This record gives sequence, structure tokens and C-alpha cells, in this order.
Amino acid sequence: MALADFPRYPLTFGPSPVHHLPRLSQHLGGAQVWAKREDVSSGLAFGGNKIRKLEYLVPDALASGADTLVSIGGYQSNHTRQVAAVAAKLGLKARLVQENWVDWPDPLSDRVGNIQLSRIMGAKVTLDSAGFDIGIRSSWQQAIDEVIADGGTPYPIPAGASEHHLGGLGFANWAYEVEQQERELGVFFDTIVVCTVTGSTHAGMIAGFAGQDRPRRVIGIDASATLEKTRDQVARIARHTASLIELGRELRDDEIEVLEGWAGDLYGIPVDSTLEAIRLGAELEAMITDPVYEGKSLAGLIDLVQSKEIPATSTVLYAHLGGQLALNAYSGLFRS
Ligand SMILES: Cc1ncc(COP(=O)(O)O)c(C=O)c1O
Repeated sequence: MALADFPRYPLTFGPSPVHHLPRLSQHLGGAQVWAKREDVSSGLAFGGNKIRKLEYLVPDALASGADTLVSIGGYQSNHTRQVAAVAAKLGLKARLVQENWVDWPDPLSDRVGNIQLSRIMGAKVTLDSAGFDIGIRSSWQQAIDEVIADGGTPYPIPAGASEHHLGGLGFANWAYEVEQQERELGVFFDTIVVCTVTGSTHAGMIAGFAGQDRPRRVIGIDASATLEKTRDQVARIARHTASLIELGRELRDDEIEVLEGWAGDLYGIPVDSTLEAIRLGAELEAMITDPVYEGKSLAGLIDLVQSKEIPATSTVLYAHLGGQLALNAYSGLFRS
């Protein structure tokens, strides 16, 4: 089936905006940098990258007769907040398991930002003390079983909607959207930079771009700090998505590029380069990024452009995937 034949339930305002970042580009002194903004593309509780993935899961959920979306993430999961938002929009319930993914000393991390919004939107939230892992968790299975025991019909959505058979479609479609916007704007983005953790954002892009005539580099910046797991997951989901949308060829290993160097030692813990990137994006472009995901991918982009690893002749597209609400749980940062 071609991508256009998969049912899609629209949850965004339309194509996410693409714009030039002239002051950041000038500061870096190399490639021209643009951004495509998933953080401002939907009216559902501040949106983000999961909304786009969920557009392809919702028809399947509705067809299944489910009344409850069941998902999992960290306390400050952007993903579970977006699941709660979509559930509210559709008149479904949301059951969320929120694990203690980040050992960061902020006493309000289970109360502010993402988790607060999920609660406001009516989601049933359970806190779990388990640490970070992008794999399938027993607590999630338990939540699914509980919904059934209570007489409900669950629709399971794994962490980041990644280990779901339709999880890569949203960002395969993003690749087609980019191609259309390039035509309108008269630009070509030879390099894409995207943050990767559970993998289906980057994987979907790889599968989508692979079907286009003009090759480009799609660089995933690891923010999981469990590089091999993320790299494997990206490769697996990219290949699965490519066959789902009938790409008609195998993806080559060199099309799957996940770079390390900006995650620090642990998921969710910002390092110096993260904080510098957050400041730079904010001071030069009023583009706000977060300490868990986008600050790390922006740090990667900054280094790759400054070092000319991305050549000065390039035009780079930074995929801004959202995530700003987590800043509320990092209240100790940026006090001077
Ligand atoms: C703001 C933000 N950026 C990046 C990512 C990484 O996307 P993925 O999990 O699809 O790799 C996520 C979710 O995990 C996110 O919420």
C-alpha cells in the first residue's frame, strides 16, 4: 500500500511551518540552517512530534472499538501528554504509566509541565519507579490488563508510539511534506537533523525520504544515551516502514545514521553543550528547546555546522519536535 492509501485522522493545523534561522546561521558561520516546527503545528495541548504519528494510529484505534488509549513514558513524557490530548479530542479515555526515567533533582517533576497537562485533560496517571528504557515494559501490559478488568477496551500505544506497526508512517509523510514545501519555497534541504530516542521519528523520515529522487542525508542525534538500542530500533522501524509503504528496495546501512556525542551519560540529564545550545537558539532566534531532547539535537547541529562536517554549502533542516513543557521540571537551570 502506498503511504497516501493509509487512513490518516488529521490532528494538526496542516503542514508544519518551515522557516530560515538567519541569525543562528550567521553565528555558526557555515551552512544555512532552517527549522520545521512540530512544536507549533497542532492546537492539541501544545502538540509535538507524536501528534503526527498518532494521526495514523487513530483510525486503527477507532476501528478497533477501543475506548481507552493506554501508553507509557517518563514523568515528563511529551508523548503521553499528546496521547492524553488526542484521547480528549476524540472523547476517549487515557490511561498513562509514567516512569521515573530521569534522576534530576527537581521536586516538582511529577507535578508540573507535561504531566500536569495530562491530568488536566482527564488522563488517569499512575507513577512507577522504574528507570529509563525504550523497550516494552510489564507496567504497560499491567495497565492494559487493568483496563480490560474494569470492562474497558484498551488501545495499546508503546513508548513514543515507536514499537507500533504504524508508528513510522507519520514521519514518512513528513518527508513528503518537506518535498512539497521545498517546491513552494524554492530550496532543497540536503541535510536533515533530528533528535532520536525511541526511534520512529527518525525511522519514518528515512523511509519517506528514501522514496524520493534526490538523495539527502538524514542525521539522527541520539538523546537516549543507550545508543545501540536506539540505533537498532531506528534501523528496524525504518526497514519495517519502508516495506509497509512499498518502497520497493531494501534500505542501505548508510541511510541509517544515528550519531552520538551530545546525549551526555544519561537520558534526560543536560550537559554543557545542551545548555549552550538552548541558550543560543533562544538568544538568536527565540526558538525554545528543552534539556531532554531538542537541546541535545540542536547541540549536535551546532557542532556539525561549525566543524564543517556539514559543509558550508549545505542547507540544513532542523526538525524541531516540541518538548518545551519539560523545562518546567528543570526549574533550577538558567537562573543567571
Ligand atoms: C520533544 C521530543 N523530541 C524528540 C523525541 C524523540 O523522538 P522518537 O522517540 O520518535 O525518537 C521525543 C520523543 O521521544 C520528543 O518528545
